[in-house]
Amino acid sequence: MKTIEAIKKRRSIRHYDPAFKISDEEIKELIELAMLSPTSYNIQHWKFVVIDNQKLRNEIKEAAYGQVQVAEASALILVVTDTKAWEKDMFEKWKNVPKEIGDFMATSAHQFYLDREQLQRDEAIRSASFATQTLVLAATAKGYESGVMIGFDFDKVDELINLPKDYIISNLVVIGKGIKEAHPRGGQTSIEKVLIKNKF
Ligand SMILES: Cc1cc2nc3c(=O)[nH]c(=O)nc-3n(C[C@H](O)[C@H](O)[C@H](O)COP(=O)(O)O)c2cc1C
Repeated sequence: MKTIEAIKKRRSIRHYDPAFKISDEEIKELIELAMLSPTSYNIQHWKFVVIDNQKLRNEIKEAAYGQVQVAEASALILVVTDTKAWEKDMFEKWKNVPKEIGDFMATSAHQFYLDREQLQRDEAIRSASFATQTLVLAATAKGYESGVMIGFDFDKVDELINLPKDYIISNLVVIGKGIKEAHPRGGQTSIEKVLIKNKF
């Protein structure tokens, strides 16, 4: 499937065939594609928590106010993001470039994010958001349906997955075989309202 076709085809799907399986290898492949998304200084803040334990999925469904797709889609992936990733493993993240360039990137990232808590959080969510969009477009290209979600009790889900300190959940993603069409699009804002030339 061509990228533009996948962008147009992707919709938020809320009802899935619970009997339909996606293999662990294919989930891994989708995550590897998501990991090709861009991040500032190649920080790669993300972790992808794949929930395949049905009891845990049911508990997360309850925390998501009973939204059935959480328990019924083939895959439930929590896109989680580390607000302190900018100070972790930065030399490893630049291991393929000459050492002086790697050192420069790691040092610059440290100076850029140090003591800027709001920016650290924004950046972590930004990276997770790019990865989420790549994940759902890759799933679409493979013929699956998907949904991105934040309709859940974050504190409760943090607790259910033992979320480490400094991490935040960006959003959930469900992927599977849809059994109900999406509603017609809710209503797109007009291009005139969102395309701004040069300055506000
Ligand atoms: C960050 C985010 C959170 C969302 N949370 C939920 C959710 O909890 N439950 C749900 O049914 N849809 C959720 N949606 C889906 C939106 O309602 C949907 O993307 C929007 O209406 C546009 O429709 P489309 O995705 O089909 O194009 C969420 C979407 C995003 C991007």
